[in-house]
Amino acid sequence: MVDVILGLQWGDEGKGKIVDYFAKNYNYDVIARFQGGPNAGHTLYVDGKKIVLHQIPSGIFHEDKINLIGNGVVLDATTLKKECENVAAFGVDYKKNLFISERTHLILPTHRALDKASEMSKGQEKIGSTLKGIGPTYMDKTGRNGLRVGNLLDKSFTTDYIKLRMKHQRLLDNFNFHEDINAWEEEFFEALEFLREFKIVNGEYFINEKIQKGQRVLAEGAQGSMLDVDFGTFPFVTSSNTISAGVCTGLGIAPQKIKEVFGISKAYCTRVGSGPFPTELLDETGELLRNTGNEFGSTTGRPRRCGWIDLVALQFACMINGVTQIIMTKADILDNLEELKVCNAYKMNGEEKSFVPFQMNKGGLEPVYQSFKGWQKDITGVTDFAGLPTEMKTYVDYLNEFLGVPVKYISNGPGRDQLVVA
Ligand code: GDP
Ligand code: IMO
Ligand code: MG
Repeated sequence: MVDVILGLQWGDEGKGKIVDYFAKNYNYDVIARFQGGPNAGHTLYVDGKKIVLHQIPSGIFHEDKINLIGNGVVLDATTLKKECENVAAFGVDYKKNLFISERTHLILPTHRALDKASEMSKGQEKIGSTLKGIGPTYMDKTGRNGLRVGNLLDKSFTTDYIKLRMKHQRLLDNFNFHEDINAWEEEFFEALEFLREFKIVNGEYFINEKIQKGQRVLAEGAQGSMLDVDFGTFPFVTSSNTISAGVCTGLGIAPQKIKEVFGISKAYCTRVGSGPFPTELLDETGELLRNTGNEFGSTTGRPRRCGWIDLVALQFACMINGVTQIIMTKADILDNLEELKVCNAYKMNGEEKSFVPFQMNKGGLEPVYQSFKGWQKDITGVTDFAGLPTEMKTYVDYLNEFLGVPVKYISNGPGRDQLVVA
């Protein structure tokens, strides 16, 4: 049996915290990442200390859990090495609990360089990529050129690497990109030695055998549904399928094995990088959300764009993911607001509509809002649903009804146990 936890917005919904909580409290045996790479930044608090995970699944701090980096992920060996050193400082025995699929594609230093070169060439139209080499690595996967973790054991690995590097060099020359990447390459080869010592497995047999034995698997999404390469705000998206369908291809799991799909949404909305964001607030309320919510990128430190919750986009995300339960995070960030707004329709070409269009940044799209009274109470210490303010329950009831999927959990602080079950 497989359950999924994924983001319903543009990323940073609080997936790391929720996966860490669920892994422990709902007895999952295996936590698996199925897509994305070090563009992700998942924040956890362990023993009161903050740690950000980029590639290691967020179940790693529970010693009885197995963590798997699936075939759908793109892996940066250098980042992984640093991350392993970080988690080891918390006493984690990653050599015992972390497994990597042999089909996982490797991010090469030239992929990072190509990401940078491509973004620079786009000028004002840049995606706002994290520049971790994600796009070029997935391009080499679908273009059938990439190198995979399993290839590390091939005798021809170095020759194959050089061949691909030369191909990349020609592309970089076309971009007129001449930055020295020798230092990246040196680190990369050191990190490959480190990677060779890992438990490299056939991920699909590995996970299906566990499911067969009745073990519980939790698939951890990265990024968010609106950054999905097919259904997000293309071209301002990432390069993988971030939605629940990605679990099947990213781990080798059949669709009927998936049971619950937990979708996470903030009580408001954020986006980092370029692209349409209908409910973005460019005023002091947006600034307030950013400062109160500490909305600065976990991977790049960039300020996140902030705005009201967008129920049209959220309903769309629930539909394409088959969300069965919603987890609302960062509700405490709205504690001091007198008034809250939710977008429940888009005005396009003068008409009110409630669907996500082909291109959100066309047709003069404008959000239509409904206002709610703020609760103006500190909710960070609340431990049960009955203890939440009435105004907040009204807000949640509206979401439940609009989305047709229940908000079952409310996160009221970054702490490991700050989660109210409805
Ligand atoms: P992820 O990428 O989805 O894992 O999310 P990030 O870690 O990038 O960003 C979420 C941020 O919000 C982190 O700093 C978390 O510690 C924090 N966070 C998560 N849930 C809550 C919450 O309910 N309240 C508050 N105040 N912070 C939260
Ligand atoms: P987590 O898992 C928020 C955004 C980037 C950029 C676009 C493409 O922490 O939620 P990429 O590096 O993939 O080429 O960037 O996607 N992006 C994220 N935004 N959270 C993330 O991950 C993101 N990963 C990528 O900012 O707009
Ligand atoms: Mg993040």
